[in-house]
Amino acid sequence: MAKDGEKSGWKEYIWNPRTREFLGRTASSWGLILLFYLVFYIFLAGLFTLTMYVMLQTLDDHKPTWQDRLATPGMVIRPKTDETYEIVYNVEKTESWDMYTQALDNLLSPYNNSVQAEKNNDCVPDQYFLQEDSGDVKNNPKRSCQFNRTMLELCSGIRDHYYGYQDGKPCIIIKLNRVIGMLPSKDGHAPFVTCGAKKEDSDKIGELLYFPPNGTFNLMYYPYYGKKAQVNYSQPLVAIKFLNITANQDVNIECRINANNIPIGSDRDKFSGRVSFKLRINTID
Ligand SMILES: *[C@@H]1O[C@H](CO)[C@@H](O)[C@H](O)[C@H]1NC(C)=O
Ligand SMILES: *[C@@H]1O[C@H](CO)[C@@H](O)[C@H](O)[C@H]1NC(C)=O
Ligand SMILES: *[C@@H]1O[C@H](CO)[C@@H](O)[C@H](O)[C@H]1NC(C)=O
Ligand SMILES: *[C@@H]1O[C@H](CO)[C@@H](O)[C@H](O)[C@H]1NC(C)=O
Ligand SMILES: *[C@@H]1O[C@H](CO)[C@@H](O)[C@H](O)[C@H]1NC(C)=O
Repeated sequence: MAKDGEKSGWKEYIWNPRTREFLGRTASSWGLILLFYLVFYIFLAGLFTLTMYVMLQTLDDHKPTWQDRLATPGMVIRPKTDETYEIVYNVEKTESWDMYTQALDNLLSPYNNSVQAEKNNDCVPDQYFLQEDSGDVKNNPKRSCQFNRTMLELCSGIRDHYYGYQDGKPCIIIKLNRVIGMLPSKDGHAPFVTCGAKKEDSDKIGELLYFPPNGTFNLMYYPYYGKKAQVNYSQPLVAIKFLNITANQDVNIECRINANNIPIGSDRDKFSGRVSFKLRINTID
């Protein structure tokens, strides 16, 4: 009997014909609950849409709200063939250095004068190329300045197709990573790169040549406005040619940027404004 009572109790809980309750609630009670949730979810969806809309309004298509690059620029060298910054080759073995000269060919191809003349402006040197937006009126797309391959002279690969690798006087190219809006300068003039050997190697580095002269990054290549705003931007380069580096020994070299507003190897970012690498040119097997 008790079992039967329990069974009918369950049945009544699911559907009670006397009170016309389903799962313990009347139709109108259920209706109210559903209505409540419907209104609640519509409200949530509305709130979400509004938030997204306001967020998207504040985003500028041409300038990232959150800078995705470090505010202090690192420096990199080319050619780079793997993760280590080591350039080791044997002058006598073409196959030991032709990947370096090929990497430089690839890097410099977009800097051919003809390509630059087509894409970019022949800017006024030694001053920033400012193209600010006036209020809400965007000044896009923005133009960029020519960096001609011939400006790298002996390191341009035009006359000497092997960038000096074949006679033990190799060229290394240095880039300063892009930072949107950065206006680097050294006492009002162009920032410049200087390279030197680590202390124990100081008598092995020999004489260096810098291209463009004095290893400068001309002011006209700044500020950089970002990939979308400045589609044809050509990052300025500095080339270093090692004229008399000691062969058959490791030479550890450090290059750094000389600029007032770029900290060199701060605690926060030890690669900011400088780059170290090893150069070893073998002449014997
Ligand atoms: C740039 O010039 C080199 C030779 O000077 C040529 O081999 C290369 O194809 C050129 N690249 C472009 C993109 O025009
Ligand atoms: C780059 O080369 C082109 C073509 O040779 C020339 O017209 C232009 O003045 C050069 N620009 C710079 C900045 O040297
Ligand atoms: C970018 O370069 C192309 C040619 O390659 C040119 O037609 C275009 O006008 C340039 N755009 C800007 C914004 O400089
Ligand atoms: C290179 O630097 C020297 C000394 O600082 C200066 O006299 C010379 O004008 C500079 N050359 C160029 C091309 O900037
Ligand atoms: C090249 O460097 C060596 C020492 O490493 C030195 O004896 C020689 O005079 C240098 N040659 C030139 C042309 O500077």
